[in-house]
Amino acid sequence: MLLTHATLATMTAQAGLDGYGLIPDAAVALEGDRIAWAGPMADLPDAWRALPELDCGGRLVTPGLIDCHTHAVFAGHRAVEFELRLKGASYEEIARAGGGILSTVTATRASSEDDLLARALPRIDQLIASGATTIEVKSGYGLSIADEVKMLRAARRIATARPVTVRTTHLAAHAVPPDYKGRAMAYIIDVAIPSLRAAQAEGLVDAVDAFCETIAFSTADLAPLFAQARALDLPVKLHAEQLTDQQGAAFAARHGALSVDHLEYLSPDGVAALAAAGTVAVILPGAFYTLRETQAPPIAALRAAGVPMAVATDLNPGSSPLASLTLAMNMACTLFRMTPEEALLGTTAHAARALGLTDRGRIAPGLRADLCLWDADHPAELSYRIGATALHTRIFGGRPDV
Ligand code: NIG
Ligand code: FE
Repeated sequence: MLLTHATLATMTAQAGLDGYGLIPDAAVALEGDRIAWAGPMADLPDAWRALPELDCGGRLVTPGLIDCHTHAVFAGHRAVEFELRLKGASYEEIARAGGGILSTVTATRASSEDDLLARALPRIDQLIASGATTIEVKSGYGLSIADEVKMLRAARRIATARPVTVRTTHLAAHAVPPDYKGRAMAYIIDVAIPSLRAAQAEGLVDAVDAFCETIAFSTADLAPLFAQARALDLPVKLHAEQLTDQQGAAFAARHGALSVDHLEYLSPDGVAALAAAGTVAVILPGAFYTLRETQAPPIAALRAAGVPMAVATDLNPGSSPLASLTLAMNMACTLFRMTPEEALLGTTAHAARALGLTDRGRIAPGLRADLCLWDADHPAELSYRIGATALHTRIFGGRPDV
């Protein structure tokens, strides 16, 4: 297939192009599931001219969007908790009364793998409608060996039911279940590590994540889990500095983490550690917004230090019931003063890097033919509109959605 008359945001750093790698009146040749050629129409080699043509009519074409942080597999919802918070209850009070993450754990444990898949698909469809072609999905609402593996199996099956790449992340270290209350380290040894081994034995794990927070796990609790990840040759990520500074980012950076996520309370030392390790900072404005957080992540310091920033939905039933990547981009700009260019890098090239993927996130020969055609003519429009669905056509692995 040959895309013609596209306004192309390649997201590649090229001499003479802006940060979007913008090429007006461009063509993109696709061969199978790969990009064969991309550049100005005037330079299109004869070899590609005979391909069936899709005239973009000047529309913006970007890489397919990548949501590098979701908890899209879960049962139940937490709308009642949302209502309770608005009537004055605190997040902590709700958690102590058995709500919060643990209420989703109860519902998820009671659901079958088929049921979890069926519940996840409408959420995935919403992400796809906002332009996603690659979606990361975490476990973390099972908190037992069998239930964590069940969640990861359901997550992997999403890719057999929808045209999307799914990357699965093991997150058994998400919360301490009631039977291990006050014994976080014992939970890591008895459940988190064995569930990681079991899931990896089934080939269900692309990365290992954890929640480093006073209400979850300390870096000391997590050290044996990250050592196990390394022994299994799996990359690590971390929910870090969301509510307090636990120096989780620096701990993760020492383990060569692909990403650290949230980061509202990241210190200058943490920023420096990320810059030195080349770890991606994943910015999650949906959770900031939902929890009515007031301290923003240190975007200017991350920018100044050259830390690559990604933007993701954090789609989950508690802190971020958000299923639109373009709305996440809008929030990152308006709430955190990221630029639209940073926001789009954050859901393309930098999101790919946060997942350790080198074959997508930009438009260049040899990369996957995952593309979005938008009813827009400038890439800033994707961040500018509030929750609009400007997607015209999505192309996954060289195939346009029908
Ligand atoms: O990324 N921070 C911890 N975990 C999720 C919240 C999960 C939940 O509340 O169900 C997050 O925000
Ligand atoms: Fe999360």
